[in-house]
Amino acid sequence: MTEHPTDFAVRALHEAFGLQGRLEPLPGEHDLNFKVTAADGGRYLFKIHAADLAPERAELQAAILRHLEHQAPDLPLPRLFLGREGQALPVIDDAQGRARRLRLTTWLDGTTWVEARRRDAGSAASLGRLLARLDRCLADFHHPAAAPYAWDLAGAASLSEDVMLIVDPERHRVAAEVLQRFTADVVPRLAGRPKQVIHGDANDRNVLLDADGMVSGLIDFGDVVETWRVNELAVAAAYLAVGAADPIAIIRPLLQAYGAEAPIAEVEADLLFDLILTRYAVSMVMAARQSRQFPGNAAYLLVSQDDVWRAMTAIRALNRPLAVATLRHACGHEPVAARRAIDAWILRNGHDFGPVLPLALTRETLRILPLGADRDTAARPGISYAERLAEVLPGIDGMPLGRYAEDRAPYDRGRARTIHLAIDLYAPAGTAVQAPLPGRIALIGNDATADGFGGILVLEHEAGTPHRFWTAYGHLAPADLAKWKAGDPVGRGDTLAHLGTTAENGGWPPHLHIQLLTALTVDRAEDLMGVLPPEDVDLWEGISPNPNAILGLPVNAAAPIAHRPGALRRLRARWIGAALSLSYETPLKIVRGAGATLIAEDGRRYLDLVNNVCHVGHCHPRVVEAIAGQAARLNTNTRYLHDNLVEYAHRLTTLLPPELSSVFLVNSGSEANDLALRLARAYTGGTEVMVLDHAYHGNLSSLIDISPYKFDGPGGAGRPRHVWVAEMPDLYRGRIRYGEAEAGPRYAERVTTLLRDLSGLDRRIAAFFAEPLLGCGGQLVLPEGYLAAAFAEVRAAGGVCIADEVQVGFGRVGSHFWAFETQGVVPDIVTMGKPIGNGHPMGAVACRPEIAAAFANGMEYFNTFGGNPVSAAAGLAVLDVIRDERLMANAAARGEQLTAGFKSLAECHRVIGDVRGLGLFMGVELVRDRDTLEPADRALKAIVEVMKEEGVLLSSEGPHHNVLKIKPPLVISEAECATVLEKIDGVMKRVAG
Ligand SMILES: Cc1ncc(COP(=O)(O)O)c(C=O)c1O
Repeated sequence: MTEHPTDFAVRALHEAFGLQGRLEPLPGEHDLNFKVTAADGGRYLFKIHAADLAPERAELQAAILRHLEHQAPDLPLPRLFLGREGQALPVIDDAQGRARRLRLTTWLDGTTWVEARRRDAGSAASLGRLLARLDRCLADFHHPAAAPYAWDLAGAASLSEDVMLIVDPERHRVAAEVLQRFTADVVPRLAGRPKQVIHGDANDRNVLLDADGMVSGLIDFGDVVETWRVNELAVAAAYLAVGAADPIAIIRPLLQAYGAEAPIAEVEADLLFDLILTRYAVSMVMAARQSRQFPGNAAYLLVSQDDVWRAMTAIRALNRPLAVATLRHACGHEPVAARRAIDAWILRNGHDFGPVLPLALTRETLRILPLGADRDTAARPGISYAERLAEVLPGIDGMPLGRYAEDRAPYDRGRARTIHLAIDLYAPAGTAVQAPLPGRIALIGNDATADGFGGILVLEHEAGTPHRFWTAYGHLAPADLAKWKAGDPVGRGDTLAHLGTTAENGGWPPHLHIQLLTALTVDRAEDLMGVLPPEDVDLWEGISPNPNAILGLPVNAAAPIAHRPGALRRLRARWIGAALSLSYETPLKIVRGAGATLIAEDGRRYLDLVNNVCHVGHCHPRVVEAIAGQAARLNTNTRYLHDNLVEYAHRLTTLLPPELSSVFLVNSGSEANDLALRLARAYTGGTEVMVLDHAYHGNLSSLIDISPYKFDGPGGAGRPRHVWVAEMPDLYRGRIRYGEAEAGPRYAERVTTLLRDLSGLDRRIAAFFAEPLLGCGGQLVLPEGYLAAAFAEVRAAGGVCIADEVQVGFGRVGSHFWAFETQGVVPDIVTMGKPIGNGHPMGAVACRPEIAAAFANGMEYFNTFGGNPVSAAAGLAVLDVIRDERLMANAAARGEQLTAGFKSLAECHRVIGDVRGLGLFMGVELVRDRDTLEPADRALKAIVEVMKEEGVLLSSEGPHHNVLKIKPPLVISEAECATVLEKIDGVMKRVAG
């Protein structure tokens, strides 16, 4: 008896799942697949597994779907419906009496990759993210049926015998060659790699995309297999490349996105190129097998094989070292594995290299061309690099040098390639070009096109080197090259050729283009990549590093390399510890600053409302000049007499109360606080330290210990025994609030209590640390009389009082130079940092001379950099600018303007709970409810993000992350403050309602 498959499906669906609906057959290699639309509009995928499918394979698929449902409920994967009796895989006999396993899953919307209209780098990246998360979830999934099967790449070597089934001789030859390489090179290198279960078939018919081209689903778990994890990527990459104009360009984002979520091992990255080709070979062998088994299908199978063959041919036509380097780099690795060894070898052996030109290339003779995006202020729209060069060259007296990494974007506008990968040395036509080290001729070419290279030679160097590397020479006289053939040996100092004339080398003035290559990324010399697209700079820097390693020219022959923000973020993640965080959801790449303005690399300008380091304005010319001038004269340490150190200490003490006449210069606020701690302990003999709750005093171990903000925060180890935490006086949400009498002394009573407690335990107080305005506490102004009362108690107990002015000193509060002065006290020790050098790393401690004397107990205090002449020069310039530009008056006026502005905004924005501060150290506390004071931290985060888009940089502060922190450079103008108020008004309307 026969039964039409759809009739059977209707019956099975109803019997097993109690579901009825319209069934549309879908393509499937073995199984019967149907799209089901139920009467209520619900859509499902109904699968009737092939009768000959081993039951455990069907069970495997069900098990994996269930595992993923638990592990990754948010991934766009099919979700399993259980049968009427709770079975994952109900079984029903078909008309032939064969048991058929059934599976019902959710229907995933989308268009298959192969049919999608819109698919681009973003699509590939979204697939990479999905596969990475899928594979991570599958790392702990095991199932006995996930055993290797014919399509598994890991077993490709066993297909070698069936290669002969491929009828077309060329395809047969190529597939055999690929499988041979796989067996010989890939298998041994992957042999030790751990295996895990993967989807195994993220091909262009199993990946679904939404209308925006983002992955909306991954279907078909029929090829699930336990194998090397990298095979997941090899399969996906192989199919993304099918039909792609530039196969590598579509594979790169797949790998980048995957690697960002699930690191790809270097050996995996190295072998991906071969694994992709192997996948094509497997596909060809399998198709050949099937067409032999089912001759009726042969024509159909061959058509899909044509696509595979085209992709395979395109990938094989690529330069292998370049493709491998690109894939390695996309996976997050150094593009060329040998780069490190080559660099190290050149560093050790460079002294043996000979001159490339027989000319004096010295600091006196070389002239770096004033070209490139970072130097040329006279470039005009529409002018080409060649034209600009022609303008500049005649004015140069000496040997012009074009820099490596020079960005030619200001010229040749619209060109994709703008970063120069070589050094250009301008010398007369006919100048001999000599081999700097032995090698042999690798490539010879003549690029006679306009703007071309003219005669080119590429030398390969391997004698004595750990890895081969190459040097390339362009703009040679083509006639000279006739004497060479590939493979000829070349000795150090041998003349390779002479510089060509302008007519011979693409119209350029005579010069040598010299490039270093860690991989031979071209098959023909004419294809040498001399200028590259800026987005590829980090890839190419790895392939073609600064050739001055070969030349040893005594000048900086390289322009600063500018990475695109996305690439920079990846590189940063690779090399910089993850404990360093970045601001904003999309971090900024700032490249310039002036006054209170920061300029991002895309030219966008931002008002900087949070930088109390660049106190007198970003890159203030007087500070820059002072630093540069002193750095050009001398930089040493405090073991020699130097005017700057003494002059600085003198200037600083004249700004402090006369009691604080001893000064130490250090390198940061943290170092200042650490030294203050040592001074206090030496002077008092005590061990205990008292701080205010939520305070932060620096990043050294000694200071993390006394910073509740850190030790009580995420990752903190809690309060150490020697530390005593006093209540934070918070007049807005604390125990005693605005308007209550004697708030200062009453908050200070807690200091008294703690002092009593610690002396009761027979401990002695060394120091009481306090910021005169509280930063991490939430930009709080201390209540009147607080420090006076607390200091008196601490001193009575034998301790010293330390004012941490790292955030708030140097005139920021407007009314006084130091914030402690607003409390009418004189501390025993004052510590300084941040603004002191306007960004130059510097700090200082001022104390009473008897404290400094107690510290001089025979042990020398030496600080290599602290107080060096350059730092002291920076510090002096900052003091001059604060005075000469009347910045304290500006701090006071702008502080008043902002305070009044925010107070008036508070009248219409109920989210503003409190506006406080002194001068340009302000906090605006946001609350969801002015009675309960529930913190509006989410609103604040949103405001900070949106204000960034509006061109104003702000940040959050306080224990509840709900205080808008405002502490701009003191030079901020009235108009700039007005802009900030206007923008924040608009943003609060939008974000906080
Ligand atoms: C109050 C206070 N003290 C000390 C420091 C430590 O300064 P630095 O990071 O320069 O070492 C900071 C830094 O934020 C600070 O805010």
